[in-house]
Amino acid sequence: MLGKKLVTAQKRGETRAMCLGLGMVACSMMIYFFIAVTMVPTYNKSVWTTEAVCKLLKVNIKDRALCPSSEDSEDGDSFPYPCLQVWVNLTASGQEVMLYDNEDTLSRNAKCSYVPDKPEYSKEVKAQVELIASIFRNKQTFRCYYDPGGTQTNVIVNRLYPPGGLLCAFLWPTLMFTAGCLIILLVKLSQYFSVLSAGQ
Ligand SMILES: *[C@@H]1O[C@H](CO)[C@@H](O)[C@H](O)[C@H]1NC(C)=O
Repeated sequence: MLGKKLVTAQKRGETRAMCLGLGMVACSMMIYFFIAVTMVPTYNKSVWTTEAVCKLLKVNIKDRALCPSSEDSEDGDSFPYPCLQVWVNLTASGQEVMLYDNEDTLSRNAKCSYVPDKPEYSKEVKAQVELIASIFRNKQTFRCYYDPGGTQTNVIVNRLYPPGGLLCAFLWPTLMFTAGCLIILLVKLSQYFSVLSAGQ
């Protein structure tokens, strides 16, 4: 009687552990898939991988108020915010290139080095852009990143997607996958041994 109860309890425990293990494996697979679909493309798109030294050449702030000309309709030279434009001498190549804040800045507005969080003309945004311009003017020489492959002939100062970031993202699902596999293995082993001992 007691033996039968014990066996049933053990069976139930094994089923639960098996479900947990399989659930963890399935969950980690979904996370892997999610990372592969959403994060890997952005990381691969980030070609600015090599560190270099940039020397400031020009800093401009294009202000809509300064040039109320008529031809800004088709030209796209009117901006919804003060447009900071920074050119630097990339010492690795000796060329004059445009500088961008980060990978996203370029895709959001290739004409400006910096895209403010609130894309609008306001006193705060104007002050923010002027502050960034003054930081560049004071620094003159700073670290920047360029594309060694040459597909992008510009530089960025802040990398949103450093290569270590992707490794970190893969760490958690890998741990979960390993733990899930381990649980399944343990359940299988315990089933195997109970079959062996029952046979004796
Ligand atoms: C950039 O700097 C290098 C040396 O510092 C110089 O030889 C080169 O002419 C500069 N290029 C530009 C475009 O200013």
